[in-house]
Amino acid sequence: MNDDAPPPSFVDLLAEGSFVDRNGEIVVGGCQLSDLATKYETPLYVIDEGALRARVQTFRTALAREWGEGMVYFASKAFPSTCMYRVMADEGIGVDVAGGGELVMALAGGVDPQNIVVHGNAKTDQELTMAHDSAVGTIVIDNFNDIDRLESIATHDQDVLVRIIPDVTASTHRALATGTDHSKFGMHAPDAHRAFDRIRQSRYLKLRGVHVHIGSQINEIAPFDDAIKAVGALGDFEVYDLGGGLGERYTYSDTPPTPDEWVRALANAARRHLPSSARLLIEPGRSIVARAGLTLYRVVTVKSGDPPFVAVDGGMGDNLEVSLYGQRFEAGVVNRLGPGSRVDLVGRHCESGDRLVANALLVEPRRGDVIAVAVTGAYCFTMSNNYNGALRPAVVFCRDGKSSLRVRRETYEDLTRRDVLEN
Ligand code: LLP
Repeated sequence: MNDDAPPPSFVDLLAEGSFVDRNGEIVVGGCQLSDLATKYETPLYVIDEGALRARVQTFRTALAREWGEGMVYFASKAFPSTCMYRVMADEGIGVDVAGGGELVMALAGGVDPQNIVVHGNAKTDQELTMAHDSAVGTIVIDNFNDIDRLESIATHDQDVLVRIIPDVTASTHRALATGTDHSKFGMHAPDAHRAFDRIRQSRYLKLRGVHVHIGSQINEIAPFDDAIKAVGALGDFEVYDLGGGLGERYTYSDTPPTPDEWVRALANAARRHLPSSARLLIEPGRSIVARAGLTLYRVVTVKSGDPPFVAVDGGMGDNLEVSLYGQRFEAGVVNRLGPGSRVDLVGRHCESGDRLVANALLVEPRRGDVIAVAVTGAYCFTMSNNYNGALRPAVVFCRDGKSSLRVRRETYEDLTRRDVLEN
């Protein structure tokens, strides 16, 4: 993209309903982003709660319309926090948890245990016990050892699904592909059949069906089709959990399927390969929460270079997506949009990989400006860290012009709170 190209619309990447007001200020969830930065300081995760809830309902409605019998589970690893679990419980969908920590938070957020699916390729005894004792609806069996241990723990009926390796390679970052032949998650068909037999002989474990999840940030339909065909070949079950994985639009040029298109494609594949009486579960994570979120930063310094560096007060401590997966984001100055010039938007951390947006198009960025990085609602908060002693950011929800603090910013005291100084 050269500097004379017509400006791509940064606001189009933000949560639906975001706009630029008469003063040239970006407004999300009815709140001016520059006001939020002043009120809550930066870096700051901002979630448009109205857009988030609307997205949940889009998935619910699509599944009901395209298939009928089924349920949406939010893959809560994308944003595990009490505030998020509350929204999901309130909107009437379930959640998938990966481990004891997410389970505890889901219960704290008021999710009905019956609406929880528990995942994990290395669930500890303690986690299996917690899950079963909390009366979670479903535990996904990843391996034979899960069956042995769950059988010895179980004191009442427990619905289970068996996770399948479909041997499907989706085009995404290799760290995000989970359905390939050598996946550490799930079982190949021959083992799965033995697992079905074992579970069918169990006193308390009730085999309801199978689970498949082929990866994340997938922008094409074909691999989902292949995965559904693979689970369909395993026999007839009551339940098919098709996982998540739908990609999100991070950049001006990304064109992932919409949630409606994705659900329709899953349902069409299910009509070809699965029993018509099946109950379909889906587990979108990223595609529920990514676009509802953005991160605000303040420019600390601008330095010459080709292109110039714009350094902000956050970085890989609050957004690991760039350095881990090479994810591309877009950024804008929250009150100065238009044809920008190229800069490297970099973070404050002690390595060169800490570059939030290479060749970002920003309009005359200067010290003190508030910068928004779009589409950071998924996996940024949860993978935030204290690298270089960075304080993990606060989370603010915005809705109808009202902002509310949902997670407070870490403090310097928090950084030493777990230290044991004397023994
Ligand atoms: N179901 C299961 C069993 C999963 O493991 C995942 C994601 C999902 C559903 C949701 O997938 P989604 O709809 O969000 O693509 N840390 C990485 C993402 C890893 C995703 C892991 N599993 C990142 O930051 O991009």
